[in-house]
Parts: sequence; C-alpha cells; structure tokens
Amino acid sequence: MKILNLFLATAILSLSVISYSDSNEILVGEVGSLTGNEATFGTSTHNGIDLAFREVNKKGGVNGRMLKLLTLDDQGKPEEAALAVKKLITQTKVTAVLGEVASSRSLAMAPIAQRYKVTMLSPSSTNPKVTQLGDYIFRVCFIDPFQGHVMAKFALDTLKAKKVAILRDVKNDYSVGLANFFTDTFKKNGGTVLVDQSYSAGDIDFKSQLTAIRAKNPEAIFIPGYYTEVGLIARQARELGIKVPLLGGDGWDSPKLKEIGGSAIENSYFSNHYSEEDKSPQVVEFIKNYKEVYGSVPDGLAAMGYDAAKVLTLAMTRAKSLNGPDLRDSLAMTKDFAGVTGKITLDKSRNAVKSAVILKITNDGFKYQTTIHP
Ligand code: PHE
Repeated sequence: MKILNLFLATAILSLSVISYSDSNEILVGEVGSLTGNEATFGTSTHNGIDLAFREVNKKGGVNGRMLKLLTLDDQGKPEEAALAVKKLITQTKVTAVLGEVASSRSLAMAPIAQRYKVTMLSPSSTNPKVTQLGDYIFRVCFIDPFQGHVMAKFALDTLKAKKVAILRDVKNDYSVGLANFFTDTFKKNGGTVLVDQSYSAGDIDFKSQLTAIRAKNPEAIFIPGYYTEVGLIARQARELGIKVPLLGGDGWDSPKLKEIGGSAIENSYFSNHYSEEDKSPQVVEFIKNYKEVYGSVPDGLAAMGYDAAKVLTLAMTRAKSLNGPDLRDSLAMTKDFAGVTGKITLDKSRNAVKSAVILKITNDGFKYQTTIHP
C-alpha cells in the first residue's frame, strides 16, 4: 500500500514532467510528509516553498528559466523518503532537492543525494548528523546543540526549574539528540534530571511513563517530540494531576498541537525558528502574501520552507552552471541572506547559525516570549 502510494505520486509526477518537458524549466524536487502523523510539517513547508517559487517565477525565474516544483509524499516514513529522493534524482532528474523537515527522514535521504552529487537543502532538520553526511547536504536552520541549550537555560533561568523530567521519543533521531543536548547544558548549569523516560512515535498511551515521572515531582517536563504525541502526552499528564509546565522544541510547531492537546497544553513553552508576531516589514509582508494564497497564518515550517526555497534559487542564479558541483559551491557561499526566519549565513559545516525564539502556548495561540542569539 505504501509502495503503491509512492507509485501513484510518481505517476502523477511523470505525467507532469512529460507535459512540462520544456528544457527551459528548472526541476526542483521536494520530499515531505504530506500525510501521516506529521502532515502539517510537510504541508506547511510545501506551501512556503510554493509561495517562494511563485514569487521567483513572477519576477522572471532563475536567469529567465522558470522553476518547477515536483513534490513526493513520504507519509512521515524514512524508508519512503529514501525511495522518493532516489526517484526524484534518477527518474525525474531534478537539479536539487528540498527536504525533509524531520531529521530521521533527512538522514535517510542524505546518503542518496550525496551519492548522486545532487544538492539537498533541508529547511528545518536540526539534528547535527544531517549535514555531516556529505558536502552536498545543507540546511537553513540552527542545530539541536543550540536548541537544547536554549531550552535548558530557559528552564533554569526563567522558570527557575532546577529539577526536571525528560520524556523522549526513542524512534526519532531529533528527539534523542535534543534530549541529550538539553541534559548536557542543564546538568552543567546545576540542574538535575530526576527521570528520563521514553516512548516511540505512534504510541497513544503514555500513562506508565507519566506515572513514573509524577512520582519524582519534577518542576518541569522536557518533551522533545512531534506535535501529535506531545498533544496526547499533555492531556494524559493533566489527567494524572501533573500541573508543571511542559517544555519542548521546534517539533511542537503545528496548529494541530492545540487541537490535540486542548487546554492541557496551555502554559507550556517551546523553542522555534520564527514567530508570527514578528513585526519586521519583511515578515508582515510574507504573512500577508501567504494568507492571500493559503488562507491561513504561516507557521514556522512554512517560513523555513520559504527561506530554503529563496536561498536555493539565489544560489542557482549566481552559480556558474546548474551541474552538481557548481550548484553546491554556489549554495555554500550563502551569506547574510535576509530571510523571514532571520539572517542566513551558511558555515563551513553547511549549517546556518541563527537565533531561536521561545513561544508560550496560551488560550489565544503561541505567544512570543524572547529571542535567544547564538
Ligand atoms: N527540527 C525537527 C527535526 O529535525 C523538525 C521540525 C522543524 C519540526 C521545525 C517542526 C518545526 O526533526
């Protein structure tokens, strides 16, 4: 069934390639979770990329050539992401690949992009290992050692929580990494991790882990997971009488978090790449344009997708040619790009060094608290 879905997507894809066999076009691949437990990640990112490409094409494209985006759904599964990127590269013959959001899926894709020397740019995979897989692999976001540090300092300094619990998703490279980085900073600065429990993506009952956590009386619980499970965990924690704030990372960023978690998720905090409350003219303009096309306020994923697409097209515009090494070299030169998620400069390790924001979840949405610079 999964394989069938992929074939279906590919069939649609090859049809569009045939009707678009205009050699003047530049084909760009995208792999994302358009369905499944992380469907909002893929959908928002896709919308952000699509908006950026529309804008570029409207202004004459990349040196006169129009951009054509070809998107495959991986349903939130690393195996599917690997198959999808291989198809995009070997069959569709895309010039570059945008994706994935989730680190576990980017980790599955990166060796393939690297092997074929096709530039891969992740909008928002934050696990350090992603770009270590090769010199064709880039990202436009910060990485988890920073994000973990930010949340550990916030817990200690702002919430005055010295004793915390951790609940991590052991099936998720991002979650495991972020839990470890948080722990490092937290302990180094005098905090204690009372208990470190785990779950696996797809679980729906977290009562036994939460009961073990409740027994230790933590002052906060760090849950570096994705929104579907985090929403359920919040509900079950409150049902068990746990009242302390829950803390998380960018994986919480979804309009669905509040739908799933209800009021149980309120008064909790997470780190993110962007805040829709940012009043800079560029962000205001982005939100306005996005709303016009998609009818909703862009989340952080949409903003990261938009920036990734813009950074990639600028690299294409100034590249000597669009062959693998030339495009890679050009992208590596990205410096001081003014994105809607902040200024983007790619370092020697092909990562962006950027600020993070902390958002508080309230009855009235995600409220901006503070910005933390690297
Ligand atoms: N940073 C997460 C990961 O690497 C993905 C993510 C990014 C999720 C931004 C939500 C928002 O897995």
